[in-house]
Amino acid sequence: MNQWLDERLNISRLNDKFLRKAFPVHHSYFLGEITLFSLIILILTGIFLALFYEPSQQLVANPLDPKGTQVPAAFASVIQINGLPYGDMLRRIHHWSANIMMGAAVIHMMRIYFTGSYKKPREINWWIGVLLLVFTALTALTGYSLPYDNYAYTTLKVIYGIAGSIPWVGDFIAQLAFAGQFPGDRLIPRMYGYHIMLLPGVLLGLTAAHMLLMIKQKHTQPGYAKRIAYKKIVGVPLLQDQSFIMVMLGLLLLGIIMLFSAFIPVHPVEFYGPPSNQTPPIKPDWYFLWIFGILAILPSTLEFNILGGTFNSEFLGGVLGAGLIVLIFLAVPLLDRTSGREMHYYSENPTDHPVRLGLGIAMTALLLVLSVAGYKPEIVNAGVLTNENANPVFWIASVAVPVIAYFLTIGIVRMIRWLRAADERDQRAAAAADD
Ligand code: HEM
Repeated sequence: MNQWLDERLNISRLNDKFLRKAFPVHHSYFLGEITLFSLIILILTGIFLALFYEPSQQLVANPLDPKGTQVPAAFASVIQINGLPYGDMLRRIHHWSANIMMGAAVIHMMRIYFTGSYKKPREINWWIGVLLLVFTALTALTGYSLPYDNYAYTTLKVIYGIAGSIPWVGDFIAQLAFAGQFPGDRLIPRMYGYHIMLLPGVLLGLTAAHMLLMIKQKHTQPGYAKRIAYKKIVGVPLLQDQSFIMVMLGLLLLGIIMLFSAFIPVHPVEFYGPPSNQTPPIKPDWYFLWIFGILAILPSTLEFNILGGTFNSEFLGGVLGAGLIVLIFLAVPLLDRTSGREMHYYSENPTDHPVRLGLGIAMTALLLVLSVAGYKPEIVNAGVLTNENANPVFWIASVAVPVIAYFLTIGIVRMIRWLRAADERDQRAAAAADD
């Protein structure tokens, strides 16, 4: 059989080139794989959901109301999916996979950052990674709009407002992205197109580029590889050792997602009901809370004009503030000019680079403080963000907590290095005494 295939497809070449690729065995390298497997589960469950979902705002009879009140077809179809055998479970699996994918991608990014694995020659893969994170978040956001319940409707209204706040071109961009004035007839078909075609297409393309670059440049090696065989690639081949580990990891992930889905319900469309003039208290998923946090701590009255363009708090927080953080992420490989002779080979020990570690912890602290601020204030009055709850504590905390986190990290690293040096001195002294 192998020979038959080889004569036609030259698979032994494929085997030499890709399937014997050595994978480092270290738990932190599983994070990228968990992200990848979650994406696969999302696509598979998404295909099944798409078979039953109706991407339309046309009014149909409400399946929950015997009096037959009219609701958008998208909303009705999600209620019907909930009623299908395992339909609710399918929605839950899709939902939890999205959360796990975002979580794993964020921790994966932290692993790359704290070990300096973004350095030359891997800058391009870092940039692709940042784009992957942004597009994953956008895919989740468009997914949330699809049930077209009052929650989704209000969220969309807030995002439409943020897009429309861009000076000079806001209206044009918002209408372009949302298929006309909000809420136009083509709003849900447009979000559906983004969610099932455009964004997954971009994600798959970026993921393919991410993987090909990783194979071409090879993994960085974990620290233990240095001790085992210096400057040699240490790891297990993709076929069959690593693929076996991958199957185990994939099954474990699936099991955890199933467990979550069996016990923790997701977004209750019946509870929110179809779109209405009443604004429900909406809270974005955890990975968007920091953006809501920036909006919450900016005074909503903040507004000024430059050359006929209006700069308001929605733009400064939701577009400029959020964009700035993404730009800082993109700039990481350009800002870090440190290099080491071994950088092509080995992941660095985070404590050997205290400033980088401190800055990373400070950024994490800032995003956490902003997320708490975003979790707190409510959204009231027709989707307009108010900063009623924004009190000076958040302003002070968003500066003080990252600064304290930075200096605390530097202090702890100094202590660890001092203890390590003392330990090495003791070992050398003991060895000398033995001699
Ligand atoms: C969101 C979807 C993502 C997927 C599916 C994904 C997948 C993977 C996989 C499977 C690996 C190899 C295993 C590993 O090193 O963990 C990897 C490596 C890598 N990823 Fe990602 N990743 C994603 C996001 C990111 C992000 C957000 C960043 C950083 C901004 C990033 C930067 C990198 C880099 C630089 C490598 C090479 C690391 C090395 O050689 O040690 N990735 N990715």
